Amino acid sequence: MNILLLGSGGREHAFARQLSQSSLCTKLFIAPGNAGTLQHGENIAIGVNDFSAIEQFVTVNNVELVVVGPEDPLVNGIYDYFLSKEALKNIPVIGPSKTGAQLEGSKAFAKQFMVRHNIPTAAYGEFTIETLEDGFDFIDEQVPPIVLKADGLAAGKGVLIVPDHGEAKEQLREMIEQNKFGKASATVVIEQFLKGIEFSVFVLTDGVNYKILPNAKDYKRIGEGDTGLNTGGMGCISPVPFVNDELMKKVEEQVIIPTINGLKQEGIVYKGFIYFGLMNVNGEPYVIEYNCRMGDPETEIVLPRIKTDLAELLLAVANGKLSEKQIEIDERAMATVIVASGGYPEDYEKGKLITFPTDVSSDTIIFHAGTKQQGESIVTNGGRVLAVSSFGNNIHEAVAKSNAVIEQIQFEGKYFRKDIGYEFR
Ligand code: AMP
Ligand code: GLY
Repeated sequence: MNILLLGSGGREHAFARQLSQSSLCTKLFIAPGNAGTLQHGENIAIGVNDFSAIEQFVTVNNVELVVVGPEDPLVNGIYDYFLSKEALKNIPVIGPSKTGAQLEGSKAFAKQFMVRHNIPTAAYGEFTIETLEDGFDFIDEQVPPIVLKADGLAAGKGVLIVPDHGEAKEQLREMIEQNKFGKASATVVIEQFLKGIEFSVFVLTDGVNYKILPNAKDYKRIGEGDTGLNTGGMGCISPVPFVNDELMKKVEEQVIIPTINGLKQEGIVYKGFIYFGLMNVNGEPYVIEYNCRMGDPETEIVLPRIKTDLAELLLAVANGKLSEKQIEIDERAMATVIVASGGYPEDYEKGKLITFPTDVSSDTIIFHAGTKQQGESIVTNGGRVLAVSSFGNNIHEAVAKSNAVIEQIQFEGKYFRKDIGYEFR
């Protein structure tokens, strides 16, 4: 079977590695990919949102399975696009329908869905230009800090947590009246601040059945000790030590099952991954956000812990046969540490030559995120450059292995957090 994978980050390198190892995979194409995905397949210079170029490529190259990494093409409706074309409609796309992707594409949609299905989440209100004054009143009723969220996709920047009522009103005005996040903030969700510890749970579903994948906790801040600016993620660990069976049982009963059943009841087609961003509030799980895809860098530790053939699992998702599959998980702990360009998440330079250690133990996998092949060399091509994932008997050991390998990776401006998983060491 020929497989097309869409995306170009560390997540896609992790997918590419595992799909290429499948006995079902004849040829793997990655659009557009990076210097890491090149080790596992053929990179194709097509953008993830260029549906007509994807259509043509899939037809000419006998692609039989499409795996979507990032959220954009899903929110833009790639699943429905395939169904609408005679030549494509029998080629499965792993990822939800356009409506299903609204769980991530619209915070208001996600909140309404959770309310309809009694899924624990922060109390909220949603406001537009017509209801701006109501929004100010709603802010007055909140106990600070106040959480404001742009409804639509805002490249991970659309959530503001502000310390007082005055600033919250100012921000609400900027979001709605001055298009602070463009169209994404035409609607704003204001919600109750939840105090707790975050963790993430991932599920693969065929729309009826589901499999729970290894959980993870990510470290979003740029600085050690969780300080400084927010990033796409500077590292993560799996499994999360405080996520015990009791908490997972609550997650499954109160969050996962009502979500899958809710989608089914409402006739929303969903064959793909659901990422539950959760807050543990005194032992009770609350949904902070849904994502309609796998996380990055979470994928770089979640997938390597799955021993089951990934292409087989994804085909079972496409055929509605996930219940027939077992998922085998590697019991070892895993951590990934992001190696970033100096300056990230603000301005940084690209095109720096990367040198890699010649000998890396089989416990460590170097995933490429923002890299590019340039002749014989590999150069930096993004803020997050590499994700170095390691297995260990515990989190501490896994992080230490990744850190030791990163010490041997060189490029100008290299930066990484040495303290990933610090609370659990
Ligand atoms: P999101 O883009 O929805 O994941 O939000 C970004 C970050 O804001 C989350 O990872 C949380 O750290 C924080 N956050 C979002 N909503 C809340 C909330 N209701 N209470 C506390 N923190 C929140
Ligand atoms: N690491 C967070 C995300 O993928 O959304």
